[in-house]
Amino acid sequence: MPRGAVSVNVAGTMPRPSDKVVLETPRLYLREFTSDDALLLFELDSDPEVMRFITKGQSTPLGQIQDEILPRVLGYYTRFPPFGVWAAHRQADDAFIGWYHLRPDKLEPDQMELGYRLKREVWGRGLATEGAAELLRAGFGAWHCDKITARTLRLNLASRRVMEKIGLRFETEFLYPAEMLPEWSEEERRAVKYSLRKEQFDAGGRL
Ligand SMILES: CC(C)(COP(=O)(O)OP(=O)(O)OC[C@H]1O[C@@H](n2cnc3c(N)ncnc32)[C@H](O)[C@@H]1OP(=O)(O)O)[C@@H](O)C(=O)NCCC(=O)NCCS
Repeated sequence: MPRGAVSVNVAGTMPRPSDKVVLETPRLYLREFTSDDALLLFELDSDPEVMRFITKGQSTPLGQIQDEILPRVLGYYTRFPPFGVWAAHRQADDAFIGWYHLRPDKLEPDQMELGYRLKREVWGRGLATEGAAELLRAGFGAWHCDKITARTLRLNLASRRVMEKIGLRFETEFLYPAEMLPEWSEEERRAVKYSLRKEQFDAGGRL
């Protein structure tokens, strides 16, 4: 598809009946992305605060979203069902507020990695926690995960707090490889891994 030919509702709302909803919480629903969603992702990644611990604030070029990121995201639905990366919308008004993922960990693919990226205007209201907790329940429930992990840079305290609030446990510190974060110094690549096993979840290691 030529760039610029992407069709999207600029307000970031989608008509629900045509969406493939994967999971719901009181305030959110997660749906599969479609090839029409490039501009939603572009807008999300255009906020330097959102990208602070991901690219040092750099936005993601629209072309990269169209040619690389969206095809990879859409590929998860056929390669690793029921896992994937999903668009998150607010129940109240259907506004797009960001995304969550639960998909094979990039460093240890036998484990499922949880992740989230939300628009700044919705931060601080417990929405990351609400969506992530529901994904944990689905992951250890109907989706039969043995172990769920989450990783973030050591200094990303909000992300770490979400991990702690949903009951993940600190596992280890590690360094993201320079190939994954080429612009970052070794100190800046210091990161933390949190995780939970199904037996710990079943024993009550959750909200
Ligand atoms: C990380 C992120 C998803 C959190 O979303 P959110 O909806 O604000 O999260 P919640 O409201 O559920 O919880 C955030 C918690 O972090 C705390 N927090 C926020 N900023 C903090 C900071 N600088 N230092 C310490 N704690 C902080 C909040 O107080 C809250 O904890 P509390 O409920 O105990 O008060 C959001 O900030 C985001 O999208 N960031 C940009 C993308 C990103 O970094 N993603 C993670 C990459 S691994």
